[in-house]
Amino acid sequence: MHVGPDDHLTIGEVIRRTGVSASALHFYERKGLIFSERGGANQRVFPRHMLRRISLVIVAKRLRIPLSDVAEVFAGLPVDRAPTHKDWQRVSRRWKKQLEERRRVIERLEQELTGCIGCGCLSMKACLLLNPDDALGGRGTGPVRLQQPDTTP
Ligand code: FES
Repeated sequence: MHVGPDDHLTIGEVIRRTGVSASALHFYERKGLIFSERGGANQRVFPRHMLRRISLVIVAKRLRIPLSDVAEVFAGLPVDRAPTHKDWQRVSRRWKKQLEERRRVIERLEQELTGCIGCGCLSMKACLLLNPDDALGGRGTGPVRLQQPDTTP
């Protein structure tokens, strides 16, 4: 398939179109998230469809999705064409699940913090915020020792 000059964008054009800085584009390229080619006069050019990939990186950043996850997602996407509508649906579903999980964690932490506000013990053993992996974890969320009598020896 012939790839004409209109199918490629210079780095300046990509910056103008996406608002992403040159250093960020270099960084994404080093991470293998986007790819450039050498055009006329050995100038670095980006296939036009990279704009879609860059858009996904921008969305991921807004959602606070780590770049390691973006790289995982991109590994399943073709590099020679833009992600399709279906690709984007699959990715957005995955990231929505991650946001939901994050929300659950924040809600649990908020609940525990609320318990701490009313407590103030800052006990390394009893406080779930200080000791999140303790054996009391299986007895519920929040300041368990405050809600239930402590029967541990
Ligand atoms: S300060 Fe966290 S449970 Fe007491």
